[in-house]
Amino acid sequence: MKRYCLKTIIFSIILSLLPLSDLNGKTFEAGKGNFLLNGRPYVIKAAELHYPRIPKEYWNHRIQMANALGMNTVCLYTFWNIHEQEEGKFDFTEQNDIRKFVELCAENGLYVILRPGPYVCAEWEMGGLPWWLLKNKDIRLRENDPYFLEKVEAFEKELASQLSDLTIDNGGPIIMIQVENEYGSYGEDKEYIGKIRDILKKYYGDEILMFQCDWSSNFTLNGLDDLLWTMNFGTGADIDSQFAKLKELRPETPLMCSEFWSGWFDKWGAGHETRDARDMIAGIDEMLSKDISFSLYMTHGGTNWGHWAGANSPGYSPDVTSYDYDAPINESGNATEKFWLLRDVLEKYLTEGDSLPSVPQAIKPIKIDKFALAEIAPLSSNLSVHSKDNKLKTMEEYDMGFGSIIYSTEVPALEEETMLTIDEAHDYAQVFLDDSLVGIIDRRKGEREIKLPKTDQAKRLNILVEAMGRINFGRAIKDYKGITGSVTITPQDGNVQELTDWEVYLIPDNIDFYNSLTFEKTDSITGSKMGRMPRGIYRGTFNVTNPSDTFLDLESWGKGLVYVNGHPLGRFWEIGPQQTLYLPGPWLKAGKNEIMIIDILGPHDLTVEGLDYPVIDKLKDDGLPRVGEITGGNFIPLLSSAFSKGNGWQTVPFEQPERADLLKLEIVSTHSEGERPAIAEIYILDDKGKRLSREGWKTTASSEERSGNHTADKITDLQESTYWQASEDSTLPQEIVIDLGAVESISGLEYLPRMERDAPGNINEFKISISKP
Ligand code: GLA
Repeated sequence: MKRYCLKTIIFSIILSLLPLSDLNGKTFEAGKGNFLLNGRPYVIKAAELHYPRIPKEYWNHRIQMANALGMNTVCLYTFWNIHEQEEGKFDFTEQNDIRKFVELCAENGLYVILRPGPYVCAEWEMGGLPWWLLKNKDIRLRENDPYFLEKVEAFEKELASQLSDLTIDNGGPIIMIQVENEYGSYGEDKEYIGKIRDILKKYYGDEILMFQCDWSSNFTLNGLDDLLWTMNFGTGADIDSQFAKLKELRPETPLMCSEFWSGWFDKWGAGHETRDARDMIAGIDEMLSKDISFSLYMTHGGTNWGHWAGANSPGYSPDVTSYDYDAPINESGNATEKFWLLRDVLEKYLTEGDSLPSVPQAIKPIKIDKFALAEIAPLSSNLSVHSKDNKLKTMEEYDMGFGSIIYSTEVPALEEETMLTIDEAHDYAQVFLDDSLVGIIDRRKGEREIKLPKTDQAKRLNILVEAMGRINFGRAIKDYKGITGSVTITPQDGNVQELTDWEVYLIPDNIDFYNSLTFEKTDSITGSKMGRMPRGIYRGTFNVTNPSDTFLDLESWGKGLVYVNGHPLGRFWEIGPQQTLYLPGPWLKAGKNEIMIIDILGPHDLTVEGLDYPVIDKLKDDGLPRVGEITGGNFIPLLSSAFSKGNGWQTVPFEQPERADLLKLEIVSTHSEGERPAIAEIYILDDKGKRLSREGWKTTASSEERSGNHTADKITDLQESTYWQASEDSTLPQEIVIDLGAVESISGLEYLPRMERDAPGNINEFKISISKP
């Protein structure tokens, strides 16, 4: 599949003219215990960068920053859903010009590791899969499903037509290609992984080195014999123990941490995540001292522009717009303290005589004076019925991927307070009777019900549902939007009645749609009782003299999306922790600029200003269950025991299966005295010894460390590198209470301590009690 086009020839000429580039590779392969570049040992120092998260105008800058940091490779995912936004229509131009991005890496002397998915996770909408796949309701995503694989192949073929001639065996910078992504946390299916490998081999050939990445706890589940295996783990992890199993199975394989997490991502309504710089540096220092290759995920995170932020599960935790990640290069491309510390370490390992390129000049952000938005297109007067349907349909069934949807039907006069059940609203529903807001159903909190007040006449029930990002992790990625099931009312006599005869209004997230609405002057509008202005699309202009990066302060706005000069900046939500949106300088013009804000809650104030610093750490409402919030329960002691010392999973079987809806773990002592207890993950086993689904669980702890965000929800977030930790002022014993959401028959508990060396906070003695219904 080689493409000997003019582009390739020009590219080869450029490569041959690059005096500073060490891109003289012809072969890259796995040797005995190390990688070999042109037959010589080579340690990969890769910077994970994502082209869609960086404005194209800054691609070169960010690549140069990574180079100046001391990296020799760029590791990148490809994002299927930005390239094929409509089925069968592929776009590799402008911001999607991945070939250009890879060429820029090469021009800067950096090799490239390509991670073409098809699934990438990455806190990106649906893990990179296009939403339109869901129009086929029977689809089995990331499985051996002929329809899914046909669509995967169509995409991979197009992608390869952009990139396959840039592999190292063709004289290009791509040294390795990843097959799928962390499949171990999704399932066990070697046949499917084999099919993805075959598709990639078909389009990139047999020469290029291919690998799989997973966690040390699960990589054997899907590891194929003919692929290289790499491990993913985060800052602080005990490196030797992370590679122990791999070394045992393949004593001569080169070692690589393909995702060494520099920081972590933020979710709406949860504390800002940070990771200690010293831990990150120590980990990289240790890996380099042992000739272990690594990719630093993220070296520069960037931004989830527009509606591209994903969401995590179990439960539903939508990710914020900033993907700063507490990475060495911050969201707006500047060096942080982590950058300078890491640069010193990387410098230590340079071959004698080599030096690091100088660091590009910092981009100085500007302030923009406060301005008001002068126009509004209120939602209430701007929409017309899209269709009438007896039964509810999802957004996908209306051929809409992103935005909001209104379902409207008549409810008869209610003689008494009546329960309304929405099963389920994805993701944020505001329920109105005629024009009055009755309440909110927030999927993050697992809400489904709301009480409708008594009414003396029939009224229209209007449900405005805003879609946030599709889940990108775990089995829940098949994530439909709008209302996914039914809406019922249950009067006090218990007679459930399904509501039908819906009128549906669509609000697609599309700038042309917004511009087609009728705008009026904002000076005509007034706030409501809650001090909010109407829900709607607001438009305004502001002036800039010398364009540069800025951070738009949205703190007085409700919830929605922002566009500037047609560029989608992303979602905002008053609950935080993110309060400003990064606006890159190249998207601004000297003179007049246009801003559009879609606010589905309504702002408190119509002004915006540009700050010269970001605010991504201001949480106003975290929506998580609080300490002691899980009440009730009649706990009966079940067992007392002790966990052993060290890293890795441990299981506590019960004598016999027990029925329970609440489980309490009382931590009596830790292995190292004085250490605060910590837990990375907990599973509870059903009566067959299988892990119960943690969907719908609520977990609280008697205390939790909020700095760095080590809250109780981390116990069930499916991420082995994150953990709950008791707060600094806490004392033992500590209690964890898990509300299973339903009565289950349970037969044991699985516990994973922290990943760091000697598992800090490892629990020693503990007691388990359960509450039986
Ligand atoms: C995993 C995935 C990445 C990303 C990180 C967390 O390692 O492979 O795509 O989601 O977790 O940031």
